[in-house]
Amino acid sequence: MADARGCFVTLFLLCVCANAQYQPNWASIDSRPLPAWYDEAKLGIFIHWGVFSVPSFSSEWFWWNWKGGQSTPGVRFFMQQNYRPGFTYADFAALFTAEFFNAEDWADTFAASGAQYIVFTSKHHEGFCNWPSKASFNWNSMDVGPKRDIVGELATAIRNKTKLHFGLYHSMFEWFHPLYLSDKANNFTTQDFVKDKTMPELYELINTYQPDVIWSDGDWEAPDVYWNSTQFLAWLYNESPVKDTVVTNDRWGKGIACHHGGFLTCSDRYNPGVLQKRKFENAMTVDKYSWGYRRNARITDFLSMEELLGTFIQTVSCGGNMLMNVGPTKDGLIIPLFQERLLNMGEWLNVNGDAIYSTRPWTFQNDSLTNNTWYTSKVTPSGRNVYAIILDWPKGDTLSLGRPLTTVATTVSMLGYPGNFNWKERSTGGMDIEIPAIPINKMPCKYAWVFQLTGIGN
Ligand SMILES: *[C@@H]1O[C@H](CO)[C@@H](O)[C@H](O)[C@H]1NC(C)=O
Ligand SMILES: *[C@@H]1O[C@H](CO)[C@@H](O)[C@H](O)[C@H]1NC(C)=O
Ligand SMILES: *[C@@H]1O[C@H](CO)[C@@H](O)[C@H](O)[C@H]1NC(C)=O
Ligand SMILES: *[C@@H]1O[C@H](CO)[C@@H](O)[C@H](O)[C@H]1NC(C)=O
Repeated sequence: MADARGCFVTLFLLCVCANAQYQPNWASIDSRPLPAWYDEAKLGIFIHWGVFSVPSFSSEWFWWNWKGGQSTPGVRFFMQQNYRPGFTYADFAALFTAEFFNAEDWADTFAASGAQYIVFTSKHHEGFCNWPSKASFNWNSMDVGPKRDIVGELATAIRNKTKLHFGLYHSMFEWFHPLYLSDKANNFTTQDFVKDKTMPELYELINTYQPDVIWSDGDWEAPDVYWNSTQFLAWLYNESPVKDTVVTNDRWGKGIACHHGGFLTCSDRYNPGVLQKRKFENAMTVDKYSWGYRRNARITDFLSMEELLGTFIQTVSCGGNMLMNVGPTKDGLIIPLFQERLLNMGEWLNVNGDAIYSTRPWTFQNDSLTNNTWYTSKVTPSGRNVYAIILDWPKGDTLSLGRPLTTVATTVSMLGYPGNFNWKERSTGGMDIEIPAIPINKMPCKYAWVFQLTGIGN
């Protein structure tokens, strides 16, 4: 009897120890290494879709102003022009029809972009859940609007049709929720909203859909102790069904972003331009002015391929991933302009992926002689490659690079083009690469060309 009890106690302790690798405090949470897939992936697709896709009018401006109870003159005018009197934000949900939403088409489009993961808005600041959440009666995509489990359909399609990792965005706060507003009025000394909504939702999302990314947001009004963030993260890392694969960001409470969590997102469109100590993600938008779809967008509001690749390459050189956002329409379509940018990214990555996927930052991030030239590097079985990615094609027949130290073993080639290029060491250091006359129809890509350098001394 005593022996049996001893054995039971030992086993119990073993279980506790095995499950308690990470403690609910930031030092412990921050000590967890990011699962390797995330750094290797470099490109993810962010998808903002929800009830806000119905007005789809200058979305960012619109949502932020709606909080004021439709009192802002701009929002009031927009509503008077477009909707009957008395129409409330909640009434938009029934118009969130999603009739053309085909998760498999989305999965194909995202896979064709060369991205390695997606992050989908399970719930944004207005609290509408894109899955049949038990914590969100009558304000979810099964009860109102689509009458479908959007998150579930997308998770299944991504897993069945692609190798992409499936990730979810989740807003901790909700602008209109009475419990959130009362906790806020109590200076966040009560946690009724966290008990009723935030935590049940997060656990439900993870246990049901097993996402590899939890992209938290809407945290910044309240301290992390209000949100119980470290308790949740310790569970996520120690015990959850995704404990070995999941990555998270840094938006877990007031003052936490840019300091604690998994990868750092700091501010939206974070693109520091210099090497970072910690892994970061540049969450940015193809439509410069909005996360959600905007019916009133103009063609010049969208980043060109040159701008998009410039941002991407700079981000990767400095150690980051880029999370590239598109906003589908309320009926579930990804408009051709977003499709085109996604497909062009995929075409570029098909040629130049060696310089991106699984690379590490090099000794220098950009060049000293040639503007808009960014570096990455990668150790291969035959040695270390350095990639010089040039955003501007050289004006003459020479590409001068100031940073690489050449050796007798140095070779230069261009990804997607046969053979090696001649080069000379510069008297002041660095190298001059001789660019042959390349017929336009032999160019490997239309923008951002990659020179692969081997046998580099620094
Ligand atoms: C609210 O809480 C913060 C920190 O928890 C404290 O500094 C502040 O004085 C409080 N404000 C009120 C009005 O109680
Ligand atoms: C927060 O975590 C503490 C400690 O684990 C727990 O006692 C409390 O119930 C949690 N609160 C919520 C709202 O989850
Ligand atoms: C290299 O990058 C830094 C930081 O973004 C920038 O200040 C500098 O102008 C860049 N140099 C060149 C030659 O582009
Ligand atoms: C690089 O950019 C700087 C600042 O815009 C400019 O003065 C310089 O002429 C550029 N150099 C080249 C080689 O284009």
